[in-house]
Amino acid sequence: MTSLDTLAWHPASWQTRKALQQPHYNDPVALADAVSQLSRLPPLVVSWEVEALRERLAAAQRGEQFLLQAGDCAESFAECESDRIAKQLKVILQLSLVLLHGLKRPVIRVGRMAGQYAKPRSADTETRDGLTLPCYRGDTVNRPEFTPEAREPDPQLLLRGYERAALTLNFVRALIDGGFADLHHPEYWDLGFLNHSPLQEAYGRIVRDIGDALDFFHALSGGPVHEAQRVDFYSSHEGLHLQYEQAQTRFIPRAQRWYNLSTHLPWIGMRTAQLDGAHVEYFRGIANPIGVKVGAAMDDNWLQQLVTTLNPNNQPGRLTLIHRFGARDIEKHLPRLIQAVRSTGHSVLWVCDPMHGNTETTVGGIKTRRLENIQSELEQAFQIHAAQGSRLGGVHLEMTGEDVTECTGGARGLSDTDLARAYRTQVDPRLNYEQALELGMMIAERSKKVRAP
Ligand code: PEP
Ligand code: CO
Repeated sequence: MTSLDTLAWHPASWQTRKALQQPHYNDPVALADAVSQLSRLPPLVVSWEVEALRERLAAAQRGEQFLLQAGDCAESFAECESDRIAKQLKVILQLSLVLLHGLKRPVIRVGRMAGQYAKPRSADTETRDGLTLPCYRGDTVNRPEFTPEAREPDPQLLLRGYERAALTLNFVRALIDGGFADLHHPEYWDLGFLNHSPLQEAYGRIVRDIGDALDFFHALSGGPVHEAQRVDFYSSHEGLHLQYEQAQTRFIPRAQRWYNLSTHLPWIGMRTAQLDGAHVEYFRGIANPIGVKVGAAMDDNWLQQLVTTLNPNNQPGRLTLIHRFGARDIEKHLPRLIQAVRSTGHSVLWVCDPMHGNTETTVGGIKTRRLENIQSELEQAFQIHAAQGSRLGGVHLEMTGEDVTECTGGARGLSDTDLARAYRTQVDPRLNYEQALELGMMIAERSKKVRAP
């Protein structure tokens, strides 16, 4: 038993631990007031949805389903707009159909949405022309502009973040219930990029097949797919800002457990996964399914202890490990960590985040990622899991439904010089609509080949 296990847990017990990546608020009374208001507002999700997701993640762990977790690196308050949200949802749903078609397994759709407002940063402060200010930590903490007023952490922004998350989720739920009709007609998909792709033939076939399958289903059931079977959609965000997470943690008498009801699937980021840290302490006590980002710096013992501390009863679907090593390093670290987890006797859901280990800076100083490295890490992840007798059960992506130019490569051959054209992210570079679908089709194509005799 670690010392953590022996301590009583409650939603604020993390406060006795070292909490990294938290903003410094100059007015503790204003903070306490905002947190107290937040803790009285209604929850954004409910415990039975959270439990339904855990059961689906357990099925993914058994190889029966596949997790697609995707969305922005950071949502912004200004972009809480109907058009952007609808486009984001559309690309996630379309991508899920492509994956479903290729993998022949139900796809669990989880957005990095409705609460992805707090970001970990590499330094607490930023200095420009001799002026040092707090770093920008996401819209729920402060503002990106480089002025003392904008960078001052403001507790009221926690409430604005909660409200934006509620508005987003409300709209997403309505769109899902209304059934996004254009999904059933691939001719409405923006597939211009197919003409540029060397895999044009194969991709064209995937899209035609999906269209045929949906038409067939429509004819058979007498109605669109969404009416026959509800499309489920879940939310997730990095559980970074512990005051915010604590305020949304509620005791459910029926279950006799505490749930974080700000989101279905919160995860621990790589910078805050210390065994004796506040984030691990908070996460070990909530009943939600949870994720942990796993990087090259994590040694075997650390990961083993995380697995046993965060899921002591080895509950199926409870723990998703999201590995992110980079195309160059995955071969060095993934096999040892698969073996380390196996030797604990515990089961986890393994998911690949091929984004965060592949970030680089161009000579012009722009943060980008190359689609070929993203594809390479993902392909290696499938192969390494198979070779180890393990299973890759999902993928974690940063992408957007908009036509941005933040990552290079893909069928249109975006290069470093294209990045300036539509570079909008405040934080990490995202795949655009075409690049995301192209990645999905790559997964679909490879699964077909793997299944072929
Ligand atoms: C992220 O998912 O945006 C992130 C910061 O990831 P990581 O914790 O893996 O660096
Ligand atoms: Co990111």
